[in-house]
Amino acid sequence: MKPIIRTAKLSKHYGKGGEIKAVDELDLEVNEGETFGLLGPNGAGKTTTVRLLNCIIKPTGGSADVYGYDIFKNETDVKRVTGLLAESPGLYEKLSAYEFLEFMGALYDVPKTILTERIEDLLKLFGLHQRRDHLLEGYSRGMKQRILIASALIHDPPILFLDEPTSMLDPRAAHMVKDLIKSLSDTAGKTIFICSHILPIVEELCDRIGIINQGRLIALGTIDEIIAQTQSKTLEDAFIALTGGVEEKELLAWREQRGAST
Ligand SMILES: Nc1ncnc2c1ncn2[C@@H]1O[C@H](COP(=O)(O)OP(=O)(O)O)[C@@H](O)[C@H]1O
Ligand SMILES: [Mg+2]
Repeated sequence: MKPIIRTAKLSKHYGKGGEIKAVDELDLEVNEGETFGLLGPNGAGKTTTVRLLNCIIKPTGGSADVYGYDIFKNETDVKRVTGLLAESPGLYEKLSAYEFLEFMGALYDVPKTILTERIEDLLKLFGLHQRRDHLLEGYSRGMKQRILIASALIHDPPILFLDEPTSMLDPRAAHMVKDLIKSLSDTAGKTIFICSHILPIVEELCDRIGIINQGRLIALGTIDEIIAQTQSKTLEDAFIALTGGVEEKELLAWREQRGAST
């Protein structure tokens, strides 16, 4: 297995004295062709990690390379080999699906001859071909999400980052997007990096997962390995044990104290 993303003590600290440790000394390897899930509660540092690996923000410490390119030195190369579905992406509502993909393709310098064919393929793959000339403002949330994922693939990057791809969707739309991701990972041979706090999505799609909490990686491996490491029965139990265990223990201690004094 060949690592395609590697981070070494990657950090992003915010605040005057760097007291907000959004990402803290992250050591991670993602292998070529796998679907990797970064799992963690709200505020854990998932979006910050993805932004660092897509050269949207600069790290305050450590290093990382993506497809062999250094995120400090080779920003443009990194952007060429990655596609990103951001957590709250912007969409040009007054464009049709076709126009939007055309626009995104131009931004990535996709040659015109290739672009026309690729847009056709993506619209078909994402089930949007019939609505290709409709303005995006009339699209449902699920359809918007699909067109955004399509646009992240317009330059055919080997690595696709999906930040909370289903969090804002109703169950039916979420299901559709999930199937789409599955078929991308099965047939398109891409490395997919998904951030989510929704466990079933990660369980179903990911070959390996990392659990992040307060900026730090606290578990890494296959789902079975993580369940075994924490002596849990399910990923949900493992997740709670790993990310909420301290608070739970504190709560129990408090209850015990109360019990003792009454
Ligand atoms: N631009 C910023 N300035 C200050 N703090 C930030 C900034 N971006 C993120 N953070 C903080 O970093 C932590 C991680 O955030 P984020 O990466 O968005 O988490 P997640 O995606 O896992 O919910 C949070 O505490 C968040 O408030
Ligand atoms: Mg996030």
